[in-house]
Amino acid sequence: MEVVICPSAEDIGRHVADVYEAVLRTEAPVIGLATGSSPLVAYAELIRRHREEGLSFAHASAFLLDEYVGLPATHPESYAAVIRRELTDHVDIDPARVHSPDGTADDLAAECARYDAAIDAVGGVHVQLLGIGTDGHVGFNEPMSSLSSRTRPKTLTQQTRKDNARFFDSVDEVPTHVLTQGLGTIRSAHHLVLVATGEAKAEAVAAAVEGPLSARCPASILQWHPHATVFVDDAAASRLDYADYYRYTLANKPDWQGF
Ligand code: F6R
Repeated sequence: MEVVICPSAEDIGRHVADVYEAVLRTEAPVIGLATGSSPLVAYAELIRRHREEGLSFAHASAFLLDEYVGLPATHPESYAAVIRRELTDHVDIDPARVHSPDGTADDLAAECARYDAAIDAVGGVHVQLLGIGTDGHVGFNEPMSSLSSRTRPKTLTQQTRKDNARFFDSVDEVPTHVLTQGLGTIRSAHHLVLVATGEAKAEAVAAAVEGPLSARCPASILQWHPHATVFVDDAAASRLDYADYYRYTLANKPDWQGF
């Protein structure tokens, strides 16, 4: 795992956009998308590169990490709607190739199995963007999620519902259940890219990066992945014991290495 401490969110956005641009320039790119606040700087930079530098998404397929149960894709806070608003409506990706689990399906278990099969059918996700919850979740794999779980329904913790209440009129409107790619599904992506900014994420980042590999902190699965990159700002890095080493590594990073 590589931990990259950046001076600003904009720097993180540029690094993540570099990683995505390299994948988007391949023949049949499969990109994994997250919602929430953390990816927004990266999406803004990707949209800018599309508009100003001709970066194309025309051959890409995209898979979202998760979706609220009970919110149709037309609901403004469904993740299907959020990703259209924040990214895909602003680039040249085919909307039919932007996939998310359907949280209104009659048979949620069957919908989750269909979603995993759709990811497998395109050969897996090449690069998966991840935010991290204050409780260490990735996707919506809350603490004690199975480390090898596949896409399935999950119950949100009250903490996550409170954290996400800012997107709704009140915490009571935040759905209690979600469909989420499992930790095993996420781990099968070729490259995992986690983004975290702000002091509120510092404890979760420290647990994920330097704590034990444990279901207690689902994001710790990044330690078990052959290619995982963690981009954090100074505030989110503030509880990392090895911060000096990560800074030294970045300052001495050879040109040939890349992320
Ligand atoms: C969203 C998702 C979540 C968020 C996490 C952090 O698709 O999977 O894991 O990434 O809750 O959210 P923000 O970035 O809003 O702090």
